[in-house]
Amino acid sequence: MSSAFSAEVGNRRTFGIISHPDAGKTTITEKLLLLGNAIQLAGTVKGKKTGRMATSDWMQMEQDRGISITTSVMQFPYKDRMVNLLDTPGHEDFSEDTYRTLTAVDSVLMVIDGAKGVEDRTIKLMDVCRLRDTPIFTFINKMDREVRDHIEVLDEIETVLKIKCAPVTWPIGMGKAFRGVYNLYTDTVHLFQPGQASVVPDDVQIKGIDSAEARAELGDELVDELIDEVELVRGASYEFDLQQYLDGEMTPVFFGTALANFGIREMLNYFVDWAPAPIERETKERTVKPDEEKFSGFIFKIQANMDPKHRDRIAFMRICSGTYTKGMKMKHTRIGKDIKVADAVTFLAGDRSNVEEAISGEIIGLHNHGTIQIGDTFTQGEELQFTGIPHFAPELFRRVRLKDPLKMKQLQKGLQQLSEEGATQLFMPLNNNDLILGAVGVLQFDVVQQRLRDEYKVECIYEPISVTTARWVACDDERKLEEFRKKASENLAIDGGGHLTYIATSRVNLSLTEERWPEIAFRATREH
Ligand code: G4P
Repeated sequence: MSSAFSAEVGNRRTFGIISHPDAGKTTITEKLLLLGNAIQLAGTVKGKKTGRMATSDWMQMEQDRGISITTSVMQFPYKDRMVNLLDTPGHEDFSEDTYRTLTAVDSVLMVIDGAKGVEDRTIKLMDVCRLRDTPIFTFINKMDREVRDHIEVLDEIETVLKIKCAPVTWPIGMGKAFRGVYNLYTDTVHLFQPGQASVVPDDVQIKGIDSAEARAELGDELVDELIDEVELVRGASYEFDLQQYLDGEMTPVFFGTALANFGIREMLNYFVDWAPAPIERETKERTVKPDEEKFSGFIFKIQANMDPKHRDRIAFMRICSGTYTKGMKMKHTRIGKDIKVADAVTFLAGDRSNVEEAISGEIIGLHNHGTIQIGDTFTQGEELQFTGIPHFAPELFRRVRLKDPLKMKQLQKGLQQLSEEGATQLFMPLNNNDLILGAVGVLQFDVVQQRLRDEYKVECIYEPISVTTARWVACDDERKLEEFRKKASENLAIDGGGHLTYIATSRVNLSLTEERWPEIAFRATREH
């Protein structure tokens, strides 16, 4: 491939933010967009207070409940890079979406609340990142508050999340006395500029912690304290090593306050340098390199109603190689058909616009008329199937019943399509006509009910059902599988994707069945 194209791909930085709810992910997103000049005014990302249409909150329900359900994509230029930020739902009930979004990024920014340290959701999300050794930047937020001892928080990250910490900046004071951050590598003080939360803040720097200027600005006492503290920090932490960061073993750490808009630029400047450019991706057939000439990509998310006026569904595609150009033909490899795509969209600053061209590492949205599923691969002719985009076995189940029995067809169609989108999972028992919905989080049921009403004009109700968990069934021995199908048919169902699934009434039932059928594999995740 041409070196110009390789260089262009090399300028892409595609990442997601992981954090526990309330750590400040939304606020940081907003400030990143501000720094990228992608929005003019802070306050457009979350509409709660300003009454603006939120950039990352599309569905009415999200707005009603004040949670971010959907995954949105934001793109902005910074320095010579093009940064793509994939927003992830913070709410636990939509964790499947988050996990799949993490398969589409090349690196992650982890946001920690400086007062709380490592929290549950962060631990779970780190586990997901670890599966692929995703490189991680860390931002410790809320320095404008009285937070915990910073060294203690770093310790916690190292022991609980099992990753080495290499602080790059260090906070100067905290709470009302927060004065800025000190860069341990350039020996520079970056002074906090209060009152600049909604603009790109002035970049006020003082060279040298022990300079006359620093002493004049911060006072001798604070400077002496900082010198001592920094010495301690250097002794107690690791020096940054790019390779260890890229291998997911070490995280560079930055401090600041998202709300008051400070410390994020100091992080972003390093992020665009250190974070990996688009990485290679595995398919069943071979490894795909990002600077290959021929186009390829996979779908990691399907989102309905992004624009309520249009009632449309957008399939989010991560481009893994080559270039998308408007009007090009792509091969939809699962169904073996060529499709012409003339109206893919990009998400510059969250505003949708039709895209003429997009390259490796970027995310485009395809209009989905029901043929696209999560995990689908698109290529320029080659037979490929990207791997590693999982479905997770649901833990919550409901039987769906219609209020108006004449609408069975609409209900089936609706449930089928919503399950292809990954909104919930659908199971149809072999032995009866029940329709069983499975979800990872209980809010997913509410979303489906609302969407069935809005989009398919079907009113449904849920009934409890004694199913505890589900496992996808596989066996190389056809005869054995057939025998299992007959003997265990009471507990077998076909899922929305046509896969045989064991639905267990209890954990004990599942383990007894696993013991009884050692030749059969019972899988808690299914790949597309
Ligand atoms: P999330 O997306 O991770 O859930 O967090 P979000 O940014 O919504 O922040 C959660 C709360 O923490 C918000 O307050 C937000 O203003 C506050 N916050 C974020 N960064 C900082 C910071 O650096 N310092 C301080 N002091 N607070 C911060 P809220 O009152 O819950 O929401 P809102 O009504 O202000 O939107």
